[in-house]
Amino acid sequence: MQLRTEQGVENMITYPTPLVKLDVVSQIVGMEVYGKLECTNPTGSHKDRESLKVLEDAKLKGFREVAITSTGNAAISLAAYSLVNGVRCHVFVPESVSEEKARLIVSFGGELHKVRGGLKEVYAECVEFVERNGVYDANPGRNLKKIEGDSAIGAEIVTQIGNPSYVFVPTNNGTLLAGVWSGFKRTKARPRMIAATAPVTEVADSIAGYSRLDEEALDEALEESGGIVLSASDKDIVEAAILLSKEGIFCEPASATSLAVLKRFQTEVGKPQGPTIILITGTIMKYPTRIMNIFHRFSQNYSS
Ligand SMILES: Cc1ncc(COP(=O)(O)O)c(C=O)c1O
Repeated sequence: MQLRTEQGVENMITYPTPLVKLDVVSQIVGMEVYGKLECTNPTGSHKDRESLKVLEDAKLKGFREVAITSTGNAAISLAAYSLVNGVRCHVFVPESVSEEKARLIVSFGGELHKVRGGLKEVYAECVEFVERNGVYDANPGRNLKKIEGDSAIGAEIVTQIGNPSYVFVPTNNGTLLAGVWSGFKRTKARPRMIAATAPVTEVADSIAGYSRLDEEALDEALEESGGIVLSASDKDIVEAAILLSKEGIFCEPASATSLAVLKRFQTEVGKPQGPTIILITGTIMKYPTRIMNIFHRFSQNYSS
């Protein structure tokens, strides 16, 4: 394992993340499905891929402070990576941010800036802060290094399984999907990229709203790969999270959206042919409240 990258940033990642055949899921959906376990990254989500590249870039350009808009995984990851690398990390969040997430961000030394309003207002305030203070801009939609970080996922999948037919990606800003696709484009693999979204949701908060801040790169990836966008209901997302737990994968509901949308794809478009991958983007282990909400239903199902 390489401890420091060439740019002098603490790496903290043991690549590649596992790609595993999901036996229980495959049996239930009647086709071979593989899970790319991004939930095994150091802070429990694929955002670590982005944070690494962001901090390399920030350090290279001589910044000592970074700023980001996020309510969850991206902020936790960037705060942790900043802490380890001696960089100050400003995190802009909506006032409504959960205690649980805020505590994690602060625990890693992130400086919280709470903003009244929705994500749009928070984003605008963060961008203004960046421009006013000359701080490094780590916002989605304004930083191509994040896409570069996620591209490693596509490249790894090719070395692990060759040329997959379909890749289902939990999607909000589109940074991840665009990044994974750009990784495939460095190889001969050309899977169809399916954006799994949850525009209206109470459980999949990490991807709520389908914000599309990396709209251009997302649309290009969907068009070039012949992909589509499909959403899932909260009921289907919870069911998918419970099904994945039977594989021994405790992921947050936003991550299970990839499986929920695969099921919807089967009924509305047809059964995907060839190796199919779902990205499992984040662990649920950081979020005790989510664990209670989701698995409380699980135990109810069990006793009925
Ligand atoms: C667990 C998880 N999965 C997927 C996504 C979607 O990534 P993107 O916003 O790049 O589309 C996020 C974004 O925050 C996330 O936290």
